[in-house]
Amino acid sequence: MSDALIRRGRIVDPSQNLDAPGDLLVRDGKIARLWPAGEAPNADGVLELDAAGLVVTPGFIDLHVHLREPGHEEKETIATGSQAAVAGGFTTICAMPNTEPATDSAAMVEYVGRVAAAGAARVLVVAAVSKGRQGKELAELGELAAAGAVGFSDDGNPVASNTLLRNALAYSRMLRLPIMDHCEDPELTKGGQMNEGPVATRLGLKGTPAAAEEVLVARDVALAELTGGWAHICHISTARAVAIVRDAKARGVRVTAEATPHHLVMTDELVMGRWPLFPGSAAAHLPYDTNTKVNPPLRSRVDVEALLAGLRDGTIDAIATDHAPHHVLDKECEYDFAAPGLSGLETALPALLLLVEQGKLSLAEVIRALTVGPARLLGRELGSLRPGGVADVTVFDPSLAWQVTPDALFSKGKNTPFLGETVKGKVVLTLREGRAVHGATRLTQPLALER
Ligand code: DOR
Ligand code: ZN
Repeated sequence: MSDALIRRGRIVDPSQNLDAPGDLLVRDGKIARLWPAGEAPNADGVLELDAAGLVVTPGFIDLHVHLREPGHEEKETIATGSQAAVAGGFTTICAMPNTEPATDSAAMVEYVGRVAAAGAARVLVVAAVSKGRQGKELAELGELAAAGAVGFSDDGNPVASNTLLRNALAYSRMLRLPIMDHCEDPELTKGGQMNEGPVATRLGLKGTPAAAEEVLVARDVALAELTGGWAHICHISTARAVAIVRDAKARGVRVTAEATPHHLVMTDELVMGRWPLFPGSAAAHLPYDTNTKVNPPLRSRVDVEALLAGLRDGTIDAIATDHAPHHVLDKECEYDFAAPGLSGLETALPALLLLVEQGKLSLAEVIRALTVGPARLLGRELGSLRPGGVADVTVFDPSLAWQVTPDALFSKGKNTPFLGETVKGKVVLTLREGRAVHGATRLTQPLALER
């Protein structure tokens, strides 16, 4: 365990409505104390970081990460995904169950937890809703919860059966855990490669309509209302879906939602290759870049605006990456054959800081959706720098520019549409329970990396 004094950083902690220069002392894995900048006394034997010009926040929490182990270790392992997480500033990540085999038994929940315990980030386990994620028979949700599952999802697929979802939501009410649904109607999305609209027409790609998402979001709300269960909408991406969630929340329905950085910063126009996204970046991108293929697809400008409004007014509770690493062979092919998903843990921060620079979200809104927002959904005392709490801390340089190259990423998944771009914003130190799990480059005394 290393103690640390982080001096003169800009401390942004939405759980305390705090955004001010300050000093932060970490001791014995806990947040010990906060002072206004420069007021912390000299603390003997404590490693110091001069954080002038840096931002200090609670460790980020990601509700939606695909780690691929077991089954597809060529795409990612729990260890590499965990290292990518802390490099991106995430100290807690939720592992989705679409592995092979799926995380649909207590033994599998325990297995993932055991393997993850050796890693850099805290890994919480989301278990499957249905056995084998087949959408036919409910998994043993009570046993999965007892084994430590923090929620249930057949992600990758929706819970297509209304009856199955109704039963799952009834359990959700008893267990007080969310059913995290990937809302895309399997019939309406069949064969779809990107968002349905003028861009898809122009590119000659089959589209999936926004309504494919909206019919399931509306259904999830109706069944949450019927059962009193908790529906969590994964990677919400359309304007109408945001409106449905807003309305449901106003009526007191137990529904929550997450949005991804990619749905917040990109539109379907980028499938045509209009780049770069980051000002000053030299990267030029070709159309039909398979790294822009993701489910749900990148949407229209109107949808993006609605997502931003939903984040600002609290309709959307959290930003989650939907980190979906794939092997190069899954992406080096025709658009129609490419696997959907993009590697997101390490580019989330620069993508979101771009929105701050453009004046679309405040830094506090971004950090809220990465910390206290998801912590509340998990019901855990995380996502805060309150004294006495767990010392999960992220320190980043908002103006540090770096180029997104395969080598720059810890993740095995190099499948990001930002490849080649010069982005701004980099995590320089990540502490998990007071331990440096990433970075430590700017410490005035070296802080040993404990792995
Ligand atoms: O694009 C996606 N990829 N969306 C999902 O929901 C699943 C994910 C994956 O597992 O690759
Ligand atoms: Zn999904």
